[in-house]
Amino acid sequence: MKTTLAVLLIMELYGLSSGLKQHFFVDKQKKWCSAQQYCKTYFHSLSTFVSDTEKHRFLANASTQTSNAWVGLYKKPEIGVWKWSGGIDAVQISWDNGMQQPNNLTTENCALLYKDRNALHDEKCREQLKFFCMTNFTLVLQNETWDGALEYCRTHYKDLASLSTMERMASALLESTQAETEYVWTGLRFLAGDWFWVNGDDLNYTAWDQNEQHQCPARDLRCGALDKQTHLWTNRNCDEKFSFFCQ
Ligand SMILES: *[C@@H]1O[C@H](CO)[C@@H](O)[C@H](O)[C@H]1NC(C)=O
Ligand SMILES: *[C@@H]1O[C@H](CO)[C@@H](O)[C@H](O)[C@H]1NC(C)=O
Ligand SMILES: *[C@@H]1O[C@H](CO)[C@@H](O)[C@H](O)[C@H]1NC(C)=O
Ligand SMILES: *[C@@H]1O[C@H](CO)[C@@H](O)[C@H](O)[C@H]1NC(C)=O
Ligand SMILES: *[C@@H]1O[C@H](CO)[C@@H](O)[C@H](O)[C@H]1NC(C)=O
Repeated sequence: MKTTLAVLLIMELYGLSSGLKQHFFVDKQKKWCSAQQYCKTYFHSLSTFVSDTEKHRFLANASTQTSNAWVGLYKKPEIGVWKWSGGIDAVQISWDNGMQQPNNLTTENCALLYKDRNALHDEKCREQLKFFCMTNFTLVLQNETWDGALEYCRTHYKDLASLSTMERMASALLESTQAETEYVWTGLRFLAGDWFWVNGDDLNYTAWDQNEQHQCPARDLRCGALDKQTHLWTNRNCDEKFSFFCQ
C-alpha cells in the first residue's frame, strides 16, 4: 500500500523534534545494515544522539516506539570501539546498566533502544528489528537569495537540502512551521531544460503545485522552494530572499 503524505504527517505523533534532527520510528523489521540502508534512502541515517541534549530529547519522546528498535550505534569489532553512524566515536552511551548491558558477547555489534527501559542494549546485527531513522535538515532563519542560500549551506553544512522522498518532505514540512518567510528555499534548480536537486538526488518523487507552470518556467522563476501554505513545491524568482534548509 502506498503511504500518503497525510499519513506521514501523522508521523508527527512519533516525530521527535530535536532542532537539527527529526526522528521517525519505522514500523518495518530489518537487520541493522538493511535498516541503515533504508534510512539513508528515505531519511538521512539511523538515529543518533551524540550530545546529552540530543540524548535527552530523543529519549523523552522515544516511548512512542512500539517495540525494541535499532539506533545508529555500532561497534567496530577489530578495535572494540562503539561509533555513531557517521563515524563519530561514541563517548557517553546510555547503556542499560541495570540489565548488565552491554554484555559484550562477541557477535553483538549493533545497538538497540530497549523499549521498556529507554536504554541501549548490544545485540546481534542480523536480528530483524524495527528502527529509528532521522533526517538532518537545518532550517536557517536568515533571508537569502537562492544562490546566497546555496553558498551558505555549502560553507557551513554539506548542501542545500533535497526533499527527494515523501519522508524527507514530511520532515521538512514539520520544520518549515518555524520559518519566518512564506517560502523556504530547497536544493531544487532548473538549468538546461530540467529541474534537478543540486546534491544529485533522483527527482522521481515530486510535490509540485499542479496549478503552477513549473515545466517550462519563465527565465526568472527557476529556483525551487517549499510553500508553507500549500505544503507543495513552487518555482520562485531566485533573487527573492527566504529562509532555507541545509543538510
Ligand atoms: C516530543 O515530540 C513532540 C512532537 O514532535 C515535540 O513537540 C516535543 O517537543 C518533543 N519533546 C521533547 C522533550 O523533545
Ligand atoms: C562490557 O564492556 C564495557 C566496556 O569495556 C564494560 O564497561 C562493561 O562492564 C562490560 N559488560 C559486561 C557485562 O562485562
Ligand atoms: C547533522 O547536522 C549537524 C549540523 O550540520 C552536524 O553537525 C551533524 O554532524 C549531522 N549529523 C549527522 C549524523 O550527520
Ligand atoms: C526575514 O524576512 C521576514 C519576512 O519578510 C521577516 O519577518 C524576518 O524578520 C526576516 N528575518 C531576518 C533574520 O532578517
Ligand atoms: C527513485 O529512484 C530510486 C533509485 O533510482 C529508487 O530506489 C526509488 O525506489 C525510486 N523512488 C520512486 C518513488 O520511484
